[in-house]
Amino acid sequence: MTIRPIIIAPDRRLKIPSVPVDTVDDETRRLLDDMLESMYADEGIGLAAIQIGAPKRLVVADVHLGDEPPAPLKLVNPELAWTSDERALREEGCLSLPEHYANVERPAEAKIRYLDEHGAPREIAAKGMLAACLQHEIDHLDGILFVDHISLIKRSIILRKLAKARRSQAASA
Ligand code: NI
Repeated sequence: MTIRPIIIAPDRRLKIPSVPVDTVDDETRRLLDDMLESMYADEGIGLAAIQIGAPKRLVVADVHLGDEPPAPLKLVNPELAWTSDERALREEGCLSLPEHYANVERPAEAKIRYLDEHGAPREIAAKGMLAACLQHEIDHLDGILFVDHISLIKRSIILRKLAKARRSQAASA
């Protein structure tokens, strides 16, 4: 497994819609493992393949808390099969927008259909943090970031700060 660098916004690649995976093969499984490794290395709870530069519809997540054992999820071609009418507001962050957080409103519960790492069809009924996390990651597959769900003003402030941080990093390198 390899830790790969995570793309930081603003970056054009994060806006690209990802393409479905035709065949779940060794290359797919390797990519999923690299994604999990990269996510854990950055202490994230979810990651989409495009965040490490692969425009494929692959998502990994692990929302286990503190002392609970790790609960890695690997999803190929995930789709929202159902979302609740009830909505929930939850603070979100993203490894591609480090150190920025905002409250995002989404359906409180969701059913997600996907293929597992062996290509078998599966479904998860998610609520709470997992529901928000998986909706956030599926958004990435369509080029949508959590800041696209908040006000234009808040979004501009966050993206400007990230661009500025990158410029000052480049200047000091
Ligand atoms: Ni994200």
